[in-house]
Amino acid sequence: MERGDAIRTYKARRRVTVGQAEAIERLLPRFGADVPYGRDAPLVLEIGSGMGEATAAMAAADPDRDVLAVEVHTPGVGALLRRLEELALTNVRVVEADGLDVLRARPSGSLDEVRVFFPDPWPKARHHKRRLTTPAFADLVADRLRVGGRLHVATDWESYAEQARSVLETHPLLDLVGTGRGARPVTRFEQQGLDAGRRPHDLVAVRLRTAAG
Ligand SMILES: C[S@@+](CC[C@H](N)C(=O)[O-])C[C@H]1O[C@@H](n2cnc3c(N)ncnc32)[C@H](O)[C@@H]1O
Repeated sequence: MERGDAIRTYKARRRVTVGQAEAIERLLPRFGADVPYGRDAPLVLEIGSGMGEATAAMAAADPDRDVLAVEVHTPGVGALLRRLEELALTNVRVVEADGLDVLRARPSGSLDEVRVFFPDPWPKARHHKRRLTTPAFADLVADRLRVGGRLHVATDWESYAEQARSVLETHPLLDLVGTGRGARPVTRFEQQGLDAGRRPHDLVAVRLRTAAG
């Protein structure tokens, strides 16, 4: 198949623009998850990187750690790839996948940090079970984090924050240590929430060595 045909097929299948399809085809060989980082550095996994604003800015400010960004939405993957090229970042890799699958595939204790910034809120009560931050998710994250590693969740839905807080507070291997946003920048997504009167809640939990008594 010619390159143009491949791009047109990609666009039809995934509803991406030609520019995004071109960026993905051109840049995945440079920033895709299969490309080695070329060093042994602490690894941050970000689930749902969206358009990649926070991913790229935080990676640029934190060059001693590597980042694996996971996003299911193809246009977001394309947008992040373009940012990585613009900023010439070498410490970020991107994969279009379900973050849970990527997390499951990681070895125990292999992650320095897991980030989930503004996960899909599933605001209707009957959809709350679809939210990411379930007890099973916390179990998985706790296992994949190194001792002392962190989980950072940010959401601007009150009920989501309450649910996540209750999961993290009661998890035997996680200690909810903070509610500060740290180096997390305001993304366009967060700004839209602020404009609509929602305020962000940050929850930071640390992986304990043994179950909390
Ligand atoms: C509300 S957006 C927030 C994006 C970004 N984190 C930000 O703060 O601007 C949530 C993102 O998570 C992605 N997402 C939802 N479930 C996912 C999953 N299981 N794995 C990877 N990405 C997921 C969505 O496609 C969407 O881009």
